Amino acid sequence: MSRLVVVSNRVAPIKEGKVAAGGLAVGVYDALRSSGGIWFGWNGEVTATPTLSSETHGNITYATLGLTRRDYDNYYRGFSNATLWPIFHYRIDLSRYRREEYEGYRQVNHMLAEQLQPLLRPDDVIWVHDYHLIPFADECRRLGIRNRIGFFLHIPFPAPEILTAIPPHNELFKTLCSYDLVGFQTEVDRQAFEDYITREVRGLVGADGSMTAYGHNFRAKVYPIGVMPDEIQQTAASYKGRRNLIGRKASGEPCQTIISVDRLDYSKGLVERFNAYEELLNRFPEHRRNVQFVQIAPTSRSDVKTYQNIRQQLETQAGHINGRYAELDWMPLHYLNRSHERRILMGLFRNACIGLVTPLRDGMNLVAKEYVAAQNPDNPGVLVLSRFAGAARELNGALIVNPYDTAGMAEALDRALRMPLNERKERYESMMLPIRSADLASWRDNFLQDLRGPNTRTVRAEKIIRVV
Ligand code: ADP
Ligand code: F6P
Repeated sequence: MSRLVVVSNRVAPIKEGKVAAGGLAVGVYDALRSSGGIWFGWNGEVTATPTLSSETHGNITYATLGLTRRDYDNYYRGFSNATLWPIFHYRIDLSRYRREEYEGYRQVNHMLAEQLQPLLRPDDVIWVHDYHLIPFADECRRLGIRNRIGFFLHIPFPAPEILTAIPPHNELFKTLCSYDLVGFQTEVDRQAFEDYITREVRGLVGADGSMTAYGHNFRAKVYPIGVMPDEIQQTAASYKGRRNLIGRKASGEPCQTIISVDRLDYSKGLVERFNAYEELLNRFPEHRRNVQFVQIAPTSRSDVKTYQNIRQQLETQAGHINGRYAELDWMPLHYLNRSHERRILMGLFRNACIGLVTPLRDGMNLVAKEYVAAQNPDNPGVLVLSRFAGAARELNGALIVNPYDTAGMAEALDRALRMPLNERKERYESMMLPIRSADLASWRDNFLQDLRGPNTRTVRAEKIIRVV
């Protein structure tokens, strides 16, 4: 079978077992681990002169390079994370546009395609990930690279009314049409993309996900990313260390634990979540001293202003909640900014009676699936999940909440804390069905099977059924 070449902005830490916070790193690493291949991208460092270096560990060759300060500022910190990220998460208010950053973004995509070219064999399939690399296939085509190239968007694709706030949207999304296959997390995202292609570009949409726009034929389909439930279950069940870290008061009595794990990002709804927890303590005083909330939130993109602001806000809020409610032997909120080993996280998930996952917008949210997969089937906890996470499309057994509704979230927490065992089991079992059937292996296999399948660039015109 043809070799797999994965391209993503950030390449996960090379040593197995090292922590990588972020769904892309976790998902891609596990997907690549079984098929083997090359993982190409940024090594996470800023250097004066970027040089490509390769290291092979097991069946994965990591081909990485640094970025110059200028490229980092324009491409990563600027256009990717100060323009695209907020817009794709429906936060036009937090987005800013600078032309030089967009140009830097385009240049870095060009430079990365040039660096990858000598590593390629003619029959390699190239799988590109996320919003940093929208123009990557277009740059490859300009260099004469003819391999199959697919793109998967890990984050939401917004409605055209939002997307068109990006000044060069036409030029940018024209380049997205150079891929052979474009994958989305949910049908909502795919539909938004179809709306953009038909309404803004006057493109054509066919059966089986084929599309024609800007003279390119390609396909766009949904591939919800999943987790590896058996491995998570095993890791969570076998974790023995520091079980008392959470779940006990200083006096040793048990305490029900609510857990949240997210990168510290404004899209994750942490401020709204802290408010809801405070509302729970305020409106349902019977839970005081019997519950604790553990929020693990490693800092992310900490040199982007909007991320500094949210961090400050959360520190104030955490101090306020503990100051108002804590007692000598009870701390209502544990707020930790450190990354944790995966086996510790899975162990914490298993011991927490509520997984609280309430993003304001999220492509999928792997934490939601990991929390459920880590539960003890005989005594599972409850997932409280935002309707705005992609995972809410699959996990009907969660208590679905609107993160903008503080009172509603507090009521859902109260309900989850009181939920009887039979209802918890029923909900858990219904969520495990999609978690098992749409696992990480099927995400990878379905995408790659379509990418390696019949070439859509030769789709005949009569297959196109809808013209707008
Ligand atoms: P995103 O990709 O936006 O960060 P996801 O929820 O899809 O959000 O993925 C986050 C991934 O990173 C999950 O697999 C989660 O377990 C992992 N992760 C998040 N926070 C931490 C942390 N503090 N330590 C280790 N892994 C983390
Ligand atoms: O999954 C979303 C994502 O943006 C990935 O593309 C990215 O690798 C991850 O979150 C972490 O973000 P960053 O690479 O900016 O630290």
